[in-house]
Amino acid sequence: MPSAWRKKESAINNLLGLEGVDRLFLESLLEEAAGMKRDIVGKSRKKSTALKGRAFVNLFFEPSTRTRTSFELAGKYLGADVVNVQGKGSSVEKGETVYDTALNIQAMQVDGLVVRHPASGVPAQLQAYLDIPVINGGDGFHEHPTQGLLDLFTVWEARQSLRDCHLVIVGDILHSRVARSDLWGFLAMGAHVTLVAPAIWLPTEIRETGLEMTSNLDNVLAAADVVQVLRIQKERRSMRGMPSVEEYRARWGITEERAQRLKQDALILHPGPQNRGVEIDSAVMAQKASKIWDQVENGVAVRMAVLRQLMGGSHE
Ligand code: CP
Repeated sequence: MPSAWRKKESAINNLLGLEGVDRLFLESLLEEAAGMKRDIVGKSRKKSTALKGRAFVNLFFEPSTRTRTSFELAGKYLGADVVNVQGKGSSVEKGETVYDTALNIQAMQVDGLVVRHPASGVPAQLQAYLDIPVINGGDGFHEHPTQGLLDLFTVWEARQSLRDCHLVIVGDILHSRVARSDLWGFLAMGAHVTLVAPAIWLPTEIRETGLEMTSNLDNVLAAADVVQVLRIQKERRSMRGMPSVEEYRARWGITEERAQRLKQDALILHPGPQNRGVEIDSAVMAQKASKIWDQVENGVAVRMAVLRQLMGGSHE
């Protein structure tokens, strides 16, 4: 299939990040994801032929439970063939470059590639070499666009609108690709975003209308409509100036006591995996306000919508 034809048929060509996306694009994706959830994921027989005859590869160079599994399920629910390739065990271990690995996968006539890589920018570099759509499954500290989309979907589903919604993201913002995708997506939908972190983890280079930053979580909690809690990454614990686990929990942890100070209808999100008892308490995860399991469920429908739009399947 010539790539030009494919690109003409698709609403989007690649999904590398949410920076620069507009509200109409996001709304069309959210609407389509809602249909996928209602008509396919929510049914006992989860089958569609929208991507029958199409194939894509999940190429993951980092561990994943939620993203890889939900892309695989999303593809299968739409009738596509899905193959998983992990860096470990692939010919990258024999010295093959990531680019040659991707070119080889493309040569097998697949219709799309989902890539997760520890280095920021790898999906963008690969799409410059490839004729097939590339979906960023999370790259370094850059973006995790389908996580951003499923977070948007989860809040949109609960509140019906994101306009003037106040999202507070708390955690290691500096090293978080989820925070970046969330902030671009929520700002594009008319929300306000406050980033909260120890000073060493605030990304001071980002300046946007509607975006604020602080290290004082307790000052902003009462005004939050949504709190997105980020994982404290063990691999960052050796950073100079980083708080101890105990200090982090005391100043930035979403404890039961802090959760009680949120608005009655505030929502609590976490992209996973969680460090229970550090950035979030188990009791908070179990509260009605917690939408953590909705996020995971919605990841399938959102990724179905992304795959359908990128791989040009029917709306069936
Ligand atoms: N939220 C997220 O990206 O989870 P995984 O690392 O398990 O895919």
